[in-house]
Amino acid sequence: MNLVVVSNRVARGKPNEPMTGGLAAALLPVVEKSGAIWVGSSGRVRDGNQKEPFAEVEALGAGALAMLDLPSAHYGGYYEGFANSALWPALHSRADLIRASEEDYASYREVNAFMARALLRFQKDDSVFWIQDYHFLALGCELRNLGVTRPTGFFLHTPWPSRAVIGGVPHHRELIEAMLAYDLIGFQTDEDCENFLSYVQADIGLAVRDGVVTSRHGRTRAAVFPIGIDPEKFAQQANKAITHPDVSRLRHSLNGEKLAIGVDRLDYSKGLVNRIKAFDRMWTLHPQLKRTISLLQIATPSRGAIEAYGNLQSDVAKLVTDVNGIHGEVDWTPIRYLNKGFGQAVLAGLYRTAQVGVVTPLQDGMNLVAKEYVAAQSPADPGVLVLSQFAGAANELDTALLVNPHDIDGMARTIATAASMPLTERRMRWEAMMDKISDRTIQQWFADFIDALQETQSGAIGPVLPEPTPLWSRRSADRGARYH
Ligand code: F6P
Repeated sequence: MNLVVVSNRVARGKPNEPMTGGLAAALLPVVEKSGAIWVGSSGRVRDGNQKEPFAEVEALGAGALAMLDLPSAHYGGYYEGFANSALWPALHSRADLIRASEEDYASYREVNAFMARALLRFQKDDSVFWIQDYHFLALGCELRNLGVTRPTGFFLHTPWPSRAVIGGVPHHRELIEAMLAYDLIGFQTDEDCENFLSYVQADIGLAVRDGVVTSRHGRTRAAVFPIGIDPEKFAQQANKAITHPDVSRLRHSLNGEKLAIGVDRLDYSKGLVNRIKAFDRMWTLHPQLKRTISLLQIATPSRGAIEAYGNLQSDVAKLVTDVNGIHGEVDWTPIRYLNKGFGQAVLAGLYRTAQVGVVTPLQDGMNLVAKEYVAAQSPADPGVLVLSQFAGAANELDTALLVNPHDIDGMARTIATAASMPLTERRMRWEAMMDKISDRTIQQWFADFIDALQETQSGAIGPVLPEPTPLWSRRSADRGARYH
């Protein structure tokens, strides 16, 4: 099998470099080992009139990385426009933030079609295509339009919302019908998968049986594959990072005080405003906790050209300044707020230094920071994870302290509880979370999805609808993925 992995953002094989976003960082180690070719955006644009899409190709572990210049006329409408101003807010249940013009939608479809044409160059007789995330909902359909008959799978890293919310996206029906050209569609949680199938059944009126949708494209299986991390590697990195200058400077600066840590892209889905308000509330209600615990909030700037992100950036900065102004002392800063990214090796050391990890998104597909924080802890003296009930990770990490990120007082109480939790309870909770994380690693996730994708071709699903799209058909026994 020749695996072709596609995502908008790709990662180069340099673990010490800061990486924005969970997807690229999570995929790097597994794609490197698999020998796949990983195709994505170079971050540059060029005139789309060229005959051949331009790709810079370099070695990546046992395979290769191909970075494509996307067409300049459509990049803005695709990335800042339809993908991140219509799909992203809808997928995170923020229908109020959906903004999209017809031009944005046209650009999104153009870039999907452009990527499909570019992929032909990497196609071999035994190719299998695995497309990642909401940037490329229609890519499978474009591949089929170009006559590609090899298996195509899609994995969504974000949540999938209720029917009503997805119905707020312009052209939602056309897009979701296009998604059904994929043979396999993977989701992070049962709820995401159920929401998708319920739309397909109720709004498009298609038959769904055992998680298999029958459409004009043939059969599509929808299934759940919760993404994981490599916990051993993270633990090793955390051990090693103790001596990293950033990490030891942080330790020395704490003077025995406890630390809570938050690491997020600056995105409205991450719940940063509510989190900071919760710390404010905690220090107001329990002034004795001042100087005993502070917050290190790393917030990597993201999608700054989009209005909602620009507004958020100033709102969060202002809030941090206000809270520091109210609770700070000449020799104590309650919140250290950094707008930059860190490489994974340093992050692992920062996580280990913090007695409390705060991961409180309003909505999140999985949230790998939650898993990384847990994996980075010292087994003898682990920290406590405060986790939003609306992160996909909460399904597995149910011994974290789960919070409702809309309940500021409740979060304030829980953060205070986390900071004073006795060692026995911390260890008990941590061990249970480590068991879950070690059961579902990124390697397992990758293998499960590829197995399931290959099985779509092997004949177990049953007969298919008429051509033009070729079909493969079967499903086999559940190998760790949960099928619906
Ligand atoms: O889960 C969604 C995702 O693809 C993650 O990789 C990451 O959090 C984010 O979106 C990447 O966003 P961008 O590439 O726009 O910075």
